[in-house]
Amino acid sequence: MTMTAITDTDPAKLYNIDTLEPYFTEGQLQERIQAMAADINKRYAGVDRLVIISILKGSFMFTSDLVRHLDMPCQIEFVRLASYGAGTKSTGEVKPVDLTLPDLNDKNVLIVEDIIDTGLTLHFFMHYLKSLHKIRTLRLAVLLDKKEARSEEIPKFPVDFVGFEVANEFLVGYGLDYAGLYRNLPYVAILPEDQTVPATPTQ
Ligand code: XMP
Ligand code: MG
Repeated sequence: MTMTAITDTDPAKLYNIDTLEPYFTEGQLQERIQAMAADINKRYAGVDRLVIISILKGSFMFTSDLVRHLDMPCQIEFVRLASYGAGTKSTGEVKPVDLTLPDLNDKNVLIVEDIIDTGLTLHFFMHYLKSLHKIRTLRLAVLLDKKEARSEEIPKFPVDFVGFEVANEFLVGYGLDYAGLYRNLPYVAILPEDQTVPATPTQ
């Protein structure tokens, strides 16, 4: 069943954390993020500056936990892209909400993203960056990789730093939302289907 819009605003149905089982606990997330940061520190040892581009909104928590373990000078930038609307399936279209960025020519750039699913968002964004700037190095750090959900229509690209591979389920918490909710949870959980709200044909 495809759920693309929220039509039922019953708060108990939209937001019921009592039924959520952590998929990754806060401790597991933090331990893995520290290990990712150690890999990133090793890869960029000696660089004069690393430009981090965090993709909002989902990556806000991951970015803030990751960067506090990085030991090179970091310039932290944010863009905002949207592809999910209010539902649990990608709309198949990336909506650039805010792409304001400084000059990235000759910079070492690390994109920080919460989750890769079809690959559309990161494909779009890397293409966009490369078309505008002569970047020195461009790499990706992604906390959650829904590997089996990758679209055949999108050219394959490597993810340089991955936190965890995850099942093809809709996840919430630790920055990830459903209908704008759940982002504040310190853990990641699978959202049960009966906690989502079906779309109506008018939306
Ligand atoms: P694509 O398909 O473009 O998806 O690789 C990446 C973007 O979609 C969002 N996304 C999710 N958000 N739970 C969420 O809350 C999920 O399970 C999920 N899967 C994908 C996310 O914003 C990411 O930037
Ligand atoms: Mg996102």
